[in-house]
Amino acid sequence: MSETTLLGMPTVKEGRVPTRTGRTYYLRTYGCQMNDHDSERIAGLLEADGMVPADDPAEADLVVLNTCTIRENADRKLYGYLGSLRRLKRDRPDMRIAVGGCMAQKDRGTIRERADWVDVVFGTHNTHRVVDLLDHADEWGPVTEIWEQTVDPADMASHLPAHRESEHTAWVTITIGCNNSCTFCIVPIVRGPEISRRPGDILREVETLAAEGVVEVTLLGQNVNSYGRDLEQGGHKALFADLLRRVGEVDGIRRVRFTSPHPKDIKEDVMAAMAETDAVCEQLHLPLQAGSDRILAAMHRGYTAERFLRKLEMARSMVPDLSVSTDIIVGFPGEGDDDFERTLEVVAEARFDSAFMFQYSPRPGTPAATMDAQVPAEVVQERFDRLVRLQNAITFERNQERVGRRLEVLVEGPSRRDPSVVTARTRGNRIVHVPGGWPAGTFMDVTVTRAAPHYLEGAPN
Ligand code: SAH
Ligand code: SF4
Ligand code: F3S
Repeated sequence: MSETTLLGMPTVKEGRVPTRTGRTYYLRTYGCQMNDHDSERIAGLLEADGMVPADDPAEADLVVLNTCTIRENADRKLYGYLGSLRRLKRDRPDMRIAVGGCMAQKDRGTIRERADWVDVVFGTHNTHRVVDLLDHADEWGPVTEIWEQTVDPADMASHLPAHRESEHTAWVTITIGCNNSCTFCIVPIVRGPEISRRPGDILREVETLAAEGVVEVTLLGQNVNSYGRDLEQGGHKALFADLLRRVGEVDGIRRVRFTSPHPKDIKEDVMAAMAETDAVCEQLHLPLQAGSDRILAAMHRGYTAERFLRKLEMARSMVPDLSVSTDIIVGFPGEGDDDFERTLEVVAEARFDSAFMFQYSPRPGTPAATMDAQVPAEVVQERFDRLVRLQNAITFERNQERVGRRLEVLVEGPSRRDPSVVTARTRGNRIVHVPGGWPAGTFMDVTVTRAAPHYLEGAPN
């Protein structure tokens, strides 16, 4: 079988006759919200071609893996899983396996070198081409298609069908790619330079979603604050704060969230838009990464801990009852005990409501991967455990501060652990378990009766 790299082949976007009616697909996603959202597009495209989802890869005609490569263990998991798919394919040679996403973009040809039973490899800029590539594989054999950049940002969004995971909440891409150069990060390499979607396209998509019953949207970009810098609109730029206000005004949209703002770029105008637009939730994900100024500089983050804390204070004073989450990396090259102590101090001062905490993982191709003084694994582990203990205690305290409060929640559906309660979410993005069989999509006010370390319990008013 030959492997072909196609470049610039036209994509059949509309008017395609479904050719896989009744065949089944199993889709597994690794990674961040951007990848989850790309998977919704992939599922939508496969379903437009007649396919139906399967719960079990052992019975699926097609297995699609949408991959992530942000840390090394993401890579390990993928190759482990591909090994188990190989056994399935031995029994069912007609089964197709497709691998897309960030790791496919990074590893290019090597995926098929390491796993020659994969039929289709597609990059992050080729997501919209998945059905065409499957056709190609059926006709001529295995294919790899990885473009260097997104040719048309519309390919990443509005006109593609999507199979959304939820009826009431939806992700909306506002930018793809990233123009920053954080020295630990692989994203700019695998997602390319930043491209903003036009505000009109974004608003049309939000209006369409609202007409379909969506009440909450999350705007997605690697650095939402740089939204619109590449778009000129009759002399003035389409800035994020404007976009936030306009999305918040769309009829039927009651909650707007966004991720991620960048601490170096978020300014008062965005905080004012949050405060003055009712639909924009009192929630901010502001990634700190490290507390030591020396490490922040080596990471190329463009702010000091002091500046970060000042922005946080400004956001909290402008947006009452703001919930703040963050990302923190432990063990960046050169991180000494003093640097790490500084991270603990800043975390204690910031009192985040929650945090995603990571052990630094060297990514080949990024500047940090070849920096001197990589921190030994056992030191990283010990620091990581201390940080997690501190943040968990703060998260629990923050939850306890909510007990007795009356909060608006949006019901997501029955709790997986206890079917007598529903899982709902506050505007601050906390999970609340509420007794009863309330249908998904219900807005209700609850009084918080109890705080657990990672969720709340509430009683309907
Ligand atoms: N664009 C977002 C981050 C996307 S990646 C932002 O700038 O906030 C999500 C998180 O993964 C990052 O915030 C960082 O904390 C973590 N991360 C990225 N690269 C990493 C690496 N090489 N090792 C460990 N964690 C990493
Ligand atoms: Fe990565 Fe930095 Fe871009 Fe976030 S802002 S995606 S951490 S390079
Ligand atoms: Fe997201 Fe992972 Fe790619 S975090 S952008 S899916 S490398």
